[in-house]
Amino acid sequence: MFAPFMLAPMAEISHRALRELIEGFTGGGQIEYVTEMISAGALLGGGPVERWYLDAGPCPGRLVYPLTGPDPDRLERAAALLDRRDCLGIDLNMGCAAPAIRRTGAGAAWMGDMGRALSMVGRVRKAVRRRLSVKLRLGPPNRGQAGPRETPRAGPDGEPFEYLARFCRGLEAEGVQLITLHPRLAGEKFKRRARWEYVEALRRELGIPVAGNGDIGSAAELLRRAKEGRAMVGRAAVRQPWIFAEARRMADAERSGGPPARRSVNLEETALRFLELLARYQPPEFHLSRARRFFGFFCGNLKWGTSVNNLLNREESLQGIERAWRGYFSAHPEESRLYGGGGM
Ligand SMILES: Cc1cc2nc3c(=O)[nH]c(=O)nc-3n(C[C@H](O)[C@H](O)[C@H](O)COP(=O)(O)O)c2cc1C
Repeated sequence: MFAPFMLAPMAEISHRALRELIEGFTGGGQIEYVTEMISAGALLGGGPVERWYLDAGPCPGRLVYPLTGPDPDRLERAAALLDRRDCLGIDLNMGCAAPAIRRTGAGAAWMGDMGRALSMVGRVRKAVRRRLSVKLRLGPPNRGQAGPRETPRAGPDGEPFEYLARFCRGLEAEGVQLITLHPRLAGEKFKRRARWEYVEALRRELGIPVAGNGDIGSAAELLRRAKEGRAMVGRAAVRQPWIFAEARRMADAERSGGPPARRSVNLEETALRFLELLARYQPPEFHLSRARRFFGFFCGNLKWGTSVNNLLNREESLQGIERAWRGYFSAHPEESRLYGGGGM
């Protein structure tokens, strides 16, 4: 048996249309979903687009709201509001490394001030009844630059893991029930690999579950990670929205002793379905940004993916994108079916 799979929070991506698409492949699987990040300030201010961010479909009972903000008072009040909604839980974001977020003191910036972060978490804990979790990174950018031969306990400066472990023990003591670790420092980009050895080390350190996240690129890899504990997937779930379903099928095949059925996915139809869901579940002002984000990853399944993506990016409406997408497959029908689910 394996722990539930988790979808990672991604700006302009982890909205209802993508969740519906994934759920369509899985058909009621064990996936925990998230919305796009909810800004505490925007939520309390009641902005005109907040309701789209708050949409918990298709499975509110398996949906977590990732909450971000720099101000403890607002985070506490926003968490209390979210707690009243139908959802699985609230995730305090201490992992987002986007400079625009970090500069305000939100996201990964929280990891730079342990005392303030733990006091904020304690306040939020008292304000919510639902599951409280935290997503974080190895540490803020100035906390030790880890070298390639670094091991969890003895980095070049000996420190990153000790700090992380203390930080997370503090979170656990404040009542956090789940931690997701994306094992990179806050300043690190995707070209450096996610250091899963830190996930393993943190699991040994804590009594609460620790989910790992970073660089899972295929269903086989997801299944391997999920056997060790909870596993969260970001980019690969956009490129392969069937990744969770595929991992499930592999697990079932392992259990029954048979080989996993070789499965094909219709790429053209999958993206058309996404466009339909996008039109249904997101407001018009979000359509283009969300479609472009999706195709930026999904076109990676195609032989001429970069050119196709460039073509789609020139379109100014969902209808235009749909036409260009269909046009590509009329010229290249052989590209429509992907066998074996692909990989990153
Ligand atoms: C386009 C994009 C947007 C993201 N937005 C957020 C975000 O808003 N908050 C956050 O905590 N992480 C965000 N992330 C990071 C992911 O949640 C995840 O930690 C990271 O992509 C590593 O997982 P992966 O290798 O499976 O993609 C984003 C990642 C991508 C690619």
